[in-house]
Amino acid sequence: MPQPDSPPVTLVTGAAGFIPSHLCEALLARGHRVIGLDGLTDTYDQRQKQANLDVLQRHAAFEFVHGHLLEVDLDPLLDGVQHVFHLAARAGVREGWTPTNFDNYMRDNSRSTQRLADAALRAGVDLFSFASTSSIYGFDPALPTPEDHELEPRSFYAMTKLLDEHLLSAYHRLFGLPVVVLRYYTLFGPRQRPDMLVHIGLKAIAAGAPLTVYGDGEQTRELTYVGDAVDAQVRVLDARPIGQTFNIGSGPTASVNELIEEMERVVGKPARRVYAKAHPADQLHSQADTSKARRLLGFDPSTTIRQGIEAEFAWLQGMGLP
Ligand SMILES: NC(=O)c1ccc[n+]([C@@H]2O[C@H](COP(=O)([O-])OP(=O)(O)OC[C@H]3O[C@@H](n4cnc5c(N)ncnc54)[C@H](O)[C@@H]3O)[C@@H](O)[C@H]2O)c1
Repeated sequence: MPQPDSPPVTLVTGAAGFIPSHLCEALLARGHRVIGLDGLTDTYDQRQKQANLDVLQRHAAFEFVHGHLLEVDLDPLLDGVQHVFHLAARAGVREGWTPTNFDNYMRDNSRSTQRLADAALRAGVDLFSFASTSSIYGFDPALPTPEDHELEPRSFYAMTKLLDEHLLSAYHRLFGLPVVVLRYYTLFGPRQRPDMLVHIGLKAIAAGAPLTVYGDGEQTRELTYVGDAVDAQVRVLDARPIGQTFNIGSGPTASVNELIEEMERVVGKPARRVYAKAHPADQLHSQADTSKARRLLGFDPSTTIRQGIEAEFAWLQGMGLP
């Protein structure tokens, strides 16, 4: 059992990844002892995940546990843990509809979430915060989209995230697991996953390589700076809105074409755009109704798209971008 004056012990799943590595840093800055678990799955270049971990492992209060959520022995891991931030997942909406992909999403997302929720309940944690996604609202939701909007996932990713939400809702309602759900809208900033638009775009523009734009580029996105999203996660610790679900998006929205123009300005070179057929799992437009997060969490995002793109470009250059 933790002593009354000892730092809170917090488990962050997916710690080597984009958003979770930033969350670990924010929790360490807040004085937590952080256990970061990651299975280092094969979704993208391990060197990027390792670089994220290298930063975290400089902190004495950070402990890395290498393991997949379906394989690690969770009871000893959760012994003494007060808060769980469950961000480990297989992300991305553009995967093919193959049985192997379905198995991968079920394994990394829903089966892992169920196993972790069960162990967290046994351990008696006092917070279980889950990262969900705006993708579960489907292709063409009403805008701005409130949390109680109809849900219509169109990818294995979004379907397994919705199943995760249902699992956690049941663990909360039936057994009292203290669950909070944050539905993120397209995050960007340093350490962004390599399959995401700003990462792909900045690299392509800097290299003078073709940049594929799906559809006509007029689809809009609510781009959210990772630091603002992490701030919302941390606010959950103080507000403790147990049983609640929140949209987390920075606003305002920008079209993909506008984002590319902003990237061109930051890199100082024109993009070589190649237009391709729109992907059926991509939303046409996304815009969050964040009034609930603003009211109950005090969420107040402040980073502009320009500032966020500049920060991501500086990070890419530090990673050896040509
Ligand atoms: N990036 C976004 O814009 C965005 C938007 C909405 C929601 N989210 C959610 O936020 C979370 C973090 O996303 P990200 O973009 O940082 O992804 P990421 O892929 O960079 O990080 C996820 C990490 O989890 C690990 N992992 C995956 N499944 C695991 C498992 N079952 N057991 C152990 N480790 C596992 C991976 O190795 C990876 O390092 C995810 O839950 C994602 O669904 C992200």
